[in-house]
Amino acid sequence: MKKITTAVFPVAGRGTRFLPVTKACPKEMLPIVDKPLVQYAVEEAVAAGATKIVFVTGRAKRAIEDHFDNDFELERELEEQGKDDLLELLRATVPPGVSFVYVRQPAPLGLGHAVLCAECVVGDEPFFIHLPDDFIHGDVPCLEQMREVYESTGCSVIATEQVPREHTKRYGIVALDDVGVNPARITHIVEKPNPEEAPSTQAVVGRYILTPAIFDLLRTTGRGAGGEIQLTDAISDLLGKESVYSYSFKGTRYDCGNKLGFLRATVEIAMAQPEIGSDFRDMLGEILDKK
Ligand code: UTP
Repeated sequence: MKKITTAVFPVAGRGTRFLPVTKACPKEMLPIVDKPLVQYAVEEAVAAGATKIVFVTGRAKRAIEDHFDNDFELERELEEQGKDDLLELLRATVPPGVSFVYVRQPAPLGLGHAVLCAECVVGDEPFFIHLPDDFIHGDVPCLEQMREVYESTGCSVIATEQVPREHTKRYGIVALDDVGVNPARITHIVEKPNPEEAPSTQAVVGRYILTPAIFDLLRTTGRGAGGEIQLTDAISDLLGKESVYSYSFKGTRYDCGNKLGFLRATVEIAMAQPEIGSDFRDMLGEILDKK
C-alpha cells in the first residue's frame, strides 16, 4: 500500500459569506484567536504524515503564500530583542522537511475542478484533501484518524458526521452498507439533497483520502449542484469502481465558512487557552450579565 505524503488544500473559493474581509484577505487566513485556519490545517496534515502541501489558490490568496514563507527580517528583529518565544512561534509556521506547492485554479468552477487542478502535482498517488474552513478540534488530528482507516482498508476514506435532517441541503450525504458500523462502506453519495430526498443524515465534511482514480472521473464530471463541478459527483462514480469508506471521526467540527461557526470556534478555543482562558471566561460572564 502506498504511503500518503501529499495533502491538497483547495482554497480558491471567494468566501463571500465573510465579505468585506475576504475582498483582499483569504478566508483561510482568518484567525482562531491568534493562529490562522490555514495553519491549523497544515499542522493537521503534517501530523498525519504529509510532506508535500499543495494549495489550489485563486484571486486574493497571496497572503497564504507569505504565511508559509520564512521572514528573515522579522526573525532577526525578534532575535535582537531577545523575544525567543515569539521567534519560536514564527519559525514554527514553516515546518521542516515540508515543501509547499501553489497551483492556480483559473476560475472558481467548483471543489471538484479545484481538486483536478492539483493532479499535476499529486500524480499517481493516494492523497489527503483538507478544507481549512472545516475546523476540527480533538485529541487525535482528524486526518491521522483517517490515515489509520486507509491503512487498514487500503481504500478511499471520507470523513462524515450526523447533521439535522433540515441541513442536508448544505452537504454531500452518504448512504452506508451497515449503519451501525464505523468505518462503513458507502453505497450511495449525493450532493446537497433536499431533506425529504436525502438517503440519510450522515454528511460529508471537509476531509478526504482519495485514490488517484478520482482524477479520470473528475475530468468527465459535468456541472452539478449549484452549477459547479462537484467532488461528490466524481466520488459517486468512484463507488462503481472501488470501495469508499465513510468514517465518523472523533472530535468537534466547527463550520468556519459561516459566521456563527467561526465565532463558536473562536470562543471555545479562547476559553481553552491557558494564557487567556480564565480571563476570557470572566469577560464573557460580565458581558452576559449586562444583557
Ligand atoms: P465553499 O463554497 O464553502 O467556499 O467551498 P467559498 O466558495 O469560498 O465560500 P462562500 O460560499 O463564497 O462563502 C468549499 C471549499 O472549496 C473551495 C473553497 O475555497 C473551500 O475551501 N473551492 C470551492 C475551491 O477551491 N474552488 C472552487 O471553485 C470552489
